[in-house]
Amino acid sequence: MKIAILSRAPQSYSTGRLRTAAVQRGHTVKVLNTLRFAIDLSGPEPDLHFRGRPLSSYDAVLPRIGNSITYFGTAVVRQFEQMDVFTPNTANGISNARDKLRATQILSRHDIAMPATAFVRNRADVRPAIERVGGAPVVIKLLEGTQGIGVILAPQVKVAEAIIETLHSTNQNVLIQSFISESRGRDIRALVVGDRVVAAMRRTADGDEFRSNVHRGGRVEAVTLDPAYERAAVRSAQIMGLRVAGVDMLEGNDGPLVMEVNSSPGLQGIETATKLDVAGAIIDYIAHEVAFPDIDVRQRLAVSTGYGVAELVVHAGADIVGTTLGDSGILERDITVLTLNRGTTVIPNPRRGQVLQAEDRLLCFGKMDEMRSMTPSRRRRASVRKLPKLPKPTPAA
Ligand SMILES: Nc1ncnc2c1ncn2[C@@H]1O[C@H](COP(=O)(O)OP(=O)(O)O)[C@@H](O)[C@H]1O
Ligand SMILES: [Mg+2]
Repeated sequence: MKIAILSRAPQSYSTGRLRTAAVQRGHTVKVLNTLRFAIDLSGPEPDLHFRGRPLSSYDAVLPRIGNSITYFGTAVVRQFEQMDVFTPNTANGISNARDKLRATQILSRHDIAMPATAFVRNRADVRPAIERVGGAPVVIKLLEGTQGIGVILAPQVKVAEAIIETLHSTNQNVLIQSFISESRGRDIRALVVGDRVVAAMRRTADGDEFRSNVHRGGRVEAVTLDPAYERAAVRSAQIMGLRVAGVDMLEGNDGPLVMEVNSSPGLQGIETATKLDVAGAIIDYIAHEVAFPDIDVRQRLAVSTGYGVAELVVHAGADIVGTTLGDSGILERDITVLTLNRGTTVIPNPRRGQVLQAEDRLLCFGKMDEMRSMTPSRRRRASVRKLPKLPKPTPAA
């Protein structure tokens, strides 16, 4: 395959290793500076220029988008997606992961355990939020920090309030998060590639530091992960839409607590700690998947008028609870059930014999009208009405 690595740091350990791993496997590889692309929207087809010339064709792209260029970098990745070039990490996945709040919001609806987190803006809401996550000591985080910068441990509520107010006054958004003291300055970094963890390490903070980032002097050692940690890491990456990710987890009393999902994980620490060829695993995965670029299913399926994708919930007490999918009448209504979600398990392509349970969620493709008629509680779309008579403006005194 012919692969482009998007990176502004051709000399860095990670980029170098990825390039070498690709060459060793007989692939053609180019490292392209992300900021030298031009997105061309003038022609009939999505296009890209690089250093002022039309870009030659690639089978795959591996984005390594630094924090400082997220907006432009994800725009370039999105353009590759529009051109049907395979990327393990989509533009959406990268932007979702980059914003710690957005990532937490997305993960929280999927039963991924995380440290209790709050997000507020008004001064009056700061103290109740601190109390809700468990009081002091409390962790305060800038939304887009990396390498431990922008992560603060406030020992007292008063100090926390002062820090948060100061940051708010300079228009910085911050997360308020419960301090997981039992992790004692340690955390787990799991490198997810595709649907498995290919390498994992434990990082231990230096001295009395609580942040275990390698850039903050953290030491690294290889670990074999408990299945619970492996599952949490793989699911988190998958939910974020990332096929290559570094998932950071704290070791809580009740198991893994996911802190963040990194879309451009560094390879030096993890390869040194584990002596594993992580770069090779990434390249092998891309070569294996290259024929199937991720597609935006909703976007593709919504192009026929009147048809679309929707999720139907089997409400407790509904007639179809306990019947099979085949007997439920759903399939006769020109509706195709793509997946059945039950709690945290997903049953792809459920068969006619599948028995439906209360609270099952069916991801369906079909006629929007038919699907709407099956969700009783929502209001139907009304035609546009005439503006009601407004009171006459009172003449100015
Ligand atoms: N809620 C927390 N409780 C205890 N330690 C934490 C908590 N949040 C972060 N840390 C420590 O701080 C480090 C950096 O936090 P993280 O959210 O990963 O930010 P960054 O993006 O800067 O790496 C983590 O690796 C961990 O060691
Ligand atoms: Mg981190």
